Amino acid sequence: MTALPGPGLFREVMGHFATGVAVVTGMDPDGHPRGFTANAVTSVSLDPLLILISVGRSSSSLPTLLASKAFAVSFLRDSDREVATRFAVGDRRSRFTELAWHSEATGSPVLDDALAWLDCSLWKVVDAGDHQVLFGRVEACGLGEAGDPLLYFRGGFGVMTP
Ligand SMILES: Cc1cc2nc3c(=O)[nH]c(=O)nc-3n(C[C@H](O)[C@H](O)[C@H](O)COP(=O)(O)O)c2cc1C
Repeated sequence: MTALPGPGLFREVMGHFATGVAVVTGMDPDGHPRGFTANAVTSVSLDPLLILISVGRSSSSLPTLLASKAFAVSFLRDSDREVATRFAVGDRRSRFTELAWHSEATGSPVLDDALAWLDCSLWKVVDAGDHQVLFGRVEACGLGEAGDPLLYFRGGFGVMTP
């Protein structure tokens, strides 16, 4: 019998599926914004409008998203590599430093410079191995200034080269 693939090969295979890069955000009860870099963001349904995000169980932002029953997604631009890195590995308390943001309908923070954004109420949570899948009902969404997206491919950031 063939051995099941391990996580290393799985990550490498999934790394060949190029994605955009987003910052997923939520608001703490004490008014502090929280957020992390994410590429597991998918459009799910038009009626109702639903998206999903997949959040690691060890994510320190997860309790904020669950407690506030809301989250926002800001899609990053090609010029946002530093933002993407900061929200992935940077100190959690200073990720929003010198970054302009505002609260949308649910109270979740949205990056002012987002290429596009979605503000969601928490619709459903599904346990999925070492992650939790959060379905969000889109309460508001919009476009920022036109531009090109930041991409993620084979473990690195890239930009579109049409
Ligand atoms: C390009 C990229 C995409 C990522 N996508 C996700 C994701 O979809 N879900 C997730 O839980 N973590 C993802 N991560 C990892 C988180 O950004 C990282 O673990 C972060 O430190 C979590 O922050 P937190 O613990 O403050 O929530 C991604 C990282 C990178 C660089």
